[in-house]
Amino acid sequence: MSTRELIYDGKEKKVYSTEDPDVVLIHYNDVTTAYGGIKRAVIKDKGICNNHISALAFQVLAKEGVENHFISLENDREQLCRKIEIIPLQVVARNRLAGSTARMLGVENGTVIPNTVFELRYNNDRLKDPMINDTHVLALGIVTEDELKRIYYLTARANEVLKEFFHKAGMELVDAKLECGRTSDGKIILSDEISPDNCRIWDEKTGEVLDKDRFRHDMSDVTVSYQQVMERLEKAFEK
Ligand code: C5P
Repeated sequence: MSTRELIYDGKEKKVYSTEDPDVVLIHYNDVTTAYGGIKRAVIKDKGICNNHISALAFQVLAKEGVENHFISLENDREQLCRKIEIIPLQVVARNRLAGSTARMLGVENGTVIPNTVFELRYNNDRLKDPMINDTHVLALGIVTEDELKRIYYLTARANEVLKEFFHKAGMELVDAKLECGRTSDGKIILSDEISPDNCRIWDEKTGEVLDKDRFRHDMSDVTVSYQQVMERLEKAFEK
């Protein structure tokens, strides 16, 4: 990996180039941020957990035909992924109403719903990732109509597959923030990360919160929860 060059320095991840122009190395660190970066801390070993959890999730998704950027796990903190052009769009799939949407709609956190809710957010730090709809996406030219259809298809399928995978591990996927990217040959695939940092994950039996909400709400044992998610998914993966 002699041509390793930093090409993106995110808060919680660093992306490096590799000898192959279509492949990047993603490094997961222990920095954790919330509320648009206002709250920040180092959570020991979080990067290791998220690297492993993402790798497991992307492998399960690939097996179920959900095309994504993951190639291989390199070590505890790094994975090789296909290089994509970032699309500044987040799709939040909600299997219950929690967090910002529960507050927006004035319902209890964790309200059970009969259908999955999909929200689009414009990925823009300066504007604080505002919620937008399909017509905003097309008006801003973020993607074409066909690409948006594919993004909905990939994220809806990903949500279904991930719900089942977490269920196999005795956990409930409450919501997930998913992102897609464009490969060099113009194909839209699932990208970014799948971890307790961008998913709400509750213990199915006890309702215990196992995700970043622990950090957001100053709850104890954030590392322990992330490790628990990793270990439970590792076991479910082997089944
Ligand atoms: O805060 P909100 O309820 O909108 O979050 C929905 C989901 O998206 C949660 O799982 C949260 O962790 C994730 N999220 C994220 N990045 C953000 C905002 C939310 O990964 N910037």
